[in-house]
Amino acid sequence: MVRFIAALDSKNGIADDHGIPWQGKIPTDVQQFRAKTEGGAVMMGYGWYVEQQQPLPSRRNLVATSKPEKLREGFELVTDARQFLQQTQDDIWVGGGAGLFASTLDLADELYLTRLDKDFNCTKFFPKFEDTFMLQSQSQPITENGITYTFQVWVKK
Ligand SMILES: NC(=O)c1ccc[n+]([C@@H]2O[C@H](COP(=O)([O-])OP(=O)(O)OC[C@H]3O[C@@H](n4cnc5c(N)ncnc54)[C@H](OP(=O)(O)O)[C@@H]3O)[C@@H](O)[C@H]2O)c1
Repeated sequence: MVRFIAALDSKNGIADDHGIPWQGKIPTDVQQFRAKTEGGAVMMGYGWYVEQQQPLPSRRNLVATSKPEKLREGFELVTDARQFLQQTQDDIWVGGGAGLFASTLDLADELYLTRLDKDFNCTKFFPKFEDTFMLQSQSQPITENGITYTFQVWVKK
């Protein structure tokens, strides 16, 4: 099963040029990310890898990049994310960023989306998904540090 996990602002933005603008402000979302992905495998694009100081603990950290460079310890190279996702027997969490989401969206079975109610002036966006996925469930709203958000699960139509 290929699942995406992402947090989106009110314009489906996921990051600006400096990273995730709401970083550190929505701890329940961080807990949910950890609870869902711990013990499993998370795939990240090279852009996110560059920002990531350490591998995510207790998970396989797969890095999608066409660059055949040596990655830091704890990260595993995936040179063709599409081929990898099509061939693997494992459950994979695709964790972003925007480039990796865009290049693999059609291979996703489910989308675990955190939907924030504010516009954070992002410059990187989640790809358009509403035509090919349908909303399966939605949590009650949570408000932390003035940001209200819900957890949604979308499944492939
Ligand atoms: N809000 C959220 O939920 C969330 C989640 C994760 C990350 N982010 C943020 O997103 C930002 C990064 O996004 P980004 O779009 O700049 O970069 P990205 O998606 O992390 O990385 C893009 C790179 O990944 C590689 N890649 C993408 N598709 C591939 C494929 N099919 N096969 C092999 N390699 C592939 C390519 O690397 P090469 O050019 O090296 O080949 C591409 O240039 C960061 O600021 C991060 O904090 C947000």
